[in-house]
Amino acid sequence: MRRPPVAATLAALREQIDAWRRDGLRIGFAPTMGGLHEGHLDLVRAAARRADRVVVSIFVNPLQFGPTEDFATYPRDLDGDIERLAGESCDLVFTPDEHMMYPRGRTDTTRVEPPPGLASILCGAARPGHFAGVATVVARLFNLVAPDVAVFGEKDFQQLTVIRRMATDLAFDVEVAGVPTRREADGLAMSSRNRYLAPEERSRASGLYAALQAAGTALAAGEEDLVAIQHAGMENIRSAGMEPEYFEVRRPEGLEQSLAADRRFVILAAARLGRARLIDNVTVELDALPPVEPGEAE
Ligand code: PAF
Repeated sequence: MRRPPVAATLAALREQIDAWRRDGLRIGFAPTMGGLHEGHLDLVRAAARRADRVVVSIFVNPLQFGPTEDFATYPRDLDGDIERLAGESCDLVFTPDEHMMYPRGRTDTTRVEPPPGLASILCGAARPGHFAGVATVVARLFNLVAPDVAVFGEKDFQQLTVIRRMATDLAFDVEVAGVPTRREADGLAMSSRNRYLAPEERSRASGLYAALQAAGTALAAGEEDLVAIQHAGMENIRSAGMEPEYFEVRRPEGLEQSLAADRRFVILAAARLGRARLIDNVTVELDALPPVEPGEAE
């Protein structure tokens, strides 16, 4: 299968983007940090459905890792990643190095600071500066690739929310699209970091999604005590042998605390398991559920 062409310089990227623009083609973009799995390939396919040409970037962005996090050990396999993209509708792989992304160095660069109400909650509480790092690199990538549409996984729901907000606030002329989470057979959300799990940990990891599903089922069944749902979620994660970090019911649009009267919810959770920090979420739309027939309710 044909491996996609690689642009390892800004000049090579610009040349190709300019040529596509001259031809009036619509450009789709899937930013990644490599370690590609089926979930990433779903991003590429989703971009291809929305555009004529697809660019995939691979760059492990140092700005979004905390000082004690896994930047040094994050999975890097550029050759394997490009091989995985062969046969997919990827028309160009952009592989910048750190100097291209941060020409004056990572500490001497203009940063994009998302609003604290979005960036300091949930994952942002445990990972200070993480979403500023994400917003900064995505803003620069948007300017370099100039996509019409960019796709991001819904597994990183908070990241998707932050990027949507950044694109609106900074008037990026790009459509930001979310792509549903790809799961393993037992429900575990695919993630490059799942490879940190030892076999015995891997068998417990699906407990995170099970806890989210149980909470979703309770909401759909009419449970209105959101605090009780959150407590039960934390407890279910603990019983599955993981250390829960948070388990929260929020509003999908801006991640504010949900009210019992809401009709749409996103339930988000994070947990530690060995070397891995797992995150996942489910959304619940009460109005999308089939109406309960009289006599069916318990
Ligand atoms: O989701 C990711 O892989 C990264 O956070 C992203 C969006 C590529 C920015 O580095």
